[in-house]
Amino acid sequence: MKPIDPCTLIIFGAAGNLSRVKLMPGLYRLERGGRLPEGMAILSVGRQHHTREDWQKDVRAMLETKFKGDLDEAIVARLMQRMHYHENPPGDANAYVRLNETLADHSVFPANIVFFLSVRPTDFSDIVSHLAGVDLLKENKGWRHVIIEKPFGTDLVSSQALQDELDKYLTEKQTYRIDHYLGKGTVQNIMVLRFANMLLEPVWNHHYVDHVQITHSETLGVGDRTEFYEHTGALRDMIQSHLLQLVALVAMEAPADMSADSLRDEKVKVLKTIRPFTEETIKTDTFRGQYASGIINEKSVPGYLEEHGVAKDSVVETYAAMKFYVDNWRWAGVPFYVNTGKRLAEGGSSIAIRFKTPPQDLMHTRCGQTSPANWIMIGIQPNETMKMELQVKVPGLDLATRTMSLDACYKNEGDEDYDAYESLLLDVMEGDQSLFLRMDEVEWAWRAVDPIIKHWAADRSPVAQYAAGSWGPAGTKNIFEKPEQFWRHSIELGGAKVEPY
Ligand code: BG6
Repeated sequence: MKPIDPCTLIIFGAAGNLSRVKLMPGLYRLERGGRLPEGMAILSVGRQHHTREDWQKDVRAMLETKFKGDLDEAIVARLMQRMHYHENPPGDANAYVRLNETLADHSVFPANIVFFLSVRPTDFSDIVSHLAGVDLLKENKGWRHVIIEKPFGTDLVSSQALQDELDKYLTEKQTYRIDHYLGKGTVQNIMVLRFANMLLEPVWNHHYVDHVQITHSETLGVGDRTEFYEHTGALRDMIQSHLLQLVALVAMEAPADMSADSLRDEKVKVLKTIRPFTEETIKTDTFRGQYASGIINEKSVPGYLEEHGVAKDSVVETYAAMKFYVDNWRWAGVPFYVNTGKRLAEGGSSIAIRFKTPPQDLMHTRCGQTSPANWIMIGIQPNETMKMELQVKVPGLDLATRTMSLDACYKNEGDEDYDAYESLLLDVMEGDQSLFLRMDEVEWAWRAVDPIIKHWAADRSPVAQYAAGSWGPAGTKNIFEKPEQFWRHSIELGGAKVEPY
């Protein structure tokens, strides 16, 4: 455990959803784990007027909603001691001057500052320029780290424009572009499985791997985020960011060391070698869908086009799937299939790697059964595990085979794990950028998906529908390269036999 400098955490958008659901509960858990530095202060910035006491009551209510009756009063009291509030009404030119004055009291607010911009993306550069305007980004008294939430732009050009604005005030070392998937322990576990074991490396390439699948499914719909989602869609929301990061971690070469730049150099190399989509491959290798009404958890739910705030002729995808190739020495010819959707049958994220079958099917000749392929599955959530499916003999007189699974669970009983935002917050305070995106990563990820985004936006024909509670639109199977490939919806033994639709 590295000691962390005392610092002030300033949360812009502190009354918003991310703060209520993730950041405040995360700070409570870090407090409970004794991980917040001595003397650290938390200054919430919001548009509304609140006294410090009112705000502390609000934060307490957020914690109660999250932890129900399971709050430790002594910990809550410690956290509340750190909690302050700053009112920043829109259009108040003086608000940043007052903020600067407030922060000048170093007996309460340590001089090192983390700014967490949990606000609308259109507000990122405005806030940063205001902070710079009152000299709050200068590092003459302490360090300044700025966390920028996703989405970082809406395509390559807009991400570069945003970066140009930030470049006026911030250095790359001060910029922490967050992708919360990198904060998940099970995502970091991909690196550990690959680089702390010798067993997987020899087979982790095109000689042995048939294809790689990455799936993120949700049972939830777009909820009250229709305004955001109508401008976003599943491809931007999940694939450009979180799922391409998973692709990079699965496909990357071993880094020279575990430093931020070595890690990100290797991830960038993967993103760079994603074969560019053309008009032709967009038609054959990508698929989009929209959820229609259906049943989730035994309740009827409306379709996307019926959600409040969605245009009746919207072509925004709530489901996206694509096949692509990582054109490098290791992965030549291996298809990567990625798919994600809202209102699907089950919620979960996983990586499934299907291996080639043995060069001679000796068991088939002997007992008439075709040997199923080996799979390695990495469950990111909710099933946190790595499974390896192998063929073994069925006890008895015949040489029959069956599939068994070796499971390496991520958690042992009693292990405590932290949520993604908790570990990332600590990293920012420690000045560790390994799990944050470098600008070239963001750019290469946009380059990979931009042609599809443009093509889909221009194509106004109705989007394939899928019933809420199903596994997505039937046509998605058309992107598979071989008839024996299919979406593996479960990482459980037997999941491989689940028919695609
Ligand atoms: C967010 C997306 O970045 O990630 C959401 O905007 C999505 O639409 C969420 O639901 C998924 O994150 P997690 O951690 O719940 O898998």
